[in-house]
Amino acid sequence: MKLAITAALAVFLFLIACSNNKNNTQGEWIKGSEEEKIKITERQFRGFDMAMVETGYRYQELYWAGKDQNWGYANYQVEKIKIAVENGLQRRPKRAKSAEHFLTDVLPQIQKSVDAKDSAEFNNRFLILTSNCNSCHAAENVSFFTVKTPTERQSPIRK
Ligand code: HEC
Repeated sequence: MKLAITAALAVFLFLIACSNNKNNTQGEWIKGSEEEKIKITERQFRGFDMAMVETGYRYQELYWAGKDQNWGYANYQVEKIKIAVENGLQRRPKRAKSAEHFLTDVLPQIQKSVDAKDSAEFNNRFLILTSNCNSCHAAENVSFFTVKTPTERQSPIRK
């Protein structure tokens, strides 16, 4: 008798666990099993490409911020480049090795020149930044993305 009750209880708990599992929230377009929903979300976050589209934009803004000596804006862009690349690497960890020097040395050095509000040093560091964008592109076999110092200004942000 005791055994029957225990067995019935076990089946009951098992059914509750199953029904909880099925009761997963569905979005308007992020739908399916838990696993499918995570897959859709990851796909929508994209890979390294969107991190680079963002980095390309911020790189240009950083350049003009330096030209304007708009150091608050320059500081903002250096921080966001770091976040964009780090988030990109979380999505594509295989690229991490090629970005190591960029993150641990190149970005902190340009950051220092911004903190010091030192235009000459900033210009120097910007050239080093540019060449490091390109060395990572070479290391990652995408050297056809040749980064060169911006010439045209597009953003409406001016000092
Ligand atoms: C991990 C090393 C790495 C670093 C550091 C890096 N890149 Fe990239 N970049 C890549 C890779 C890899 C791609 C191609 C992405 C892909 O195929 O998903 C790319 C692509 C790009 C693209 C094209 C994006 C597109 O889809 O249109 C631009 C623009 C770009 N990078 C700019 C820069 C700039 C500017 C810097 C420096 C401030 C930089 N990158 C630093 C690895 C790097």
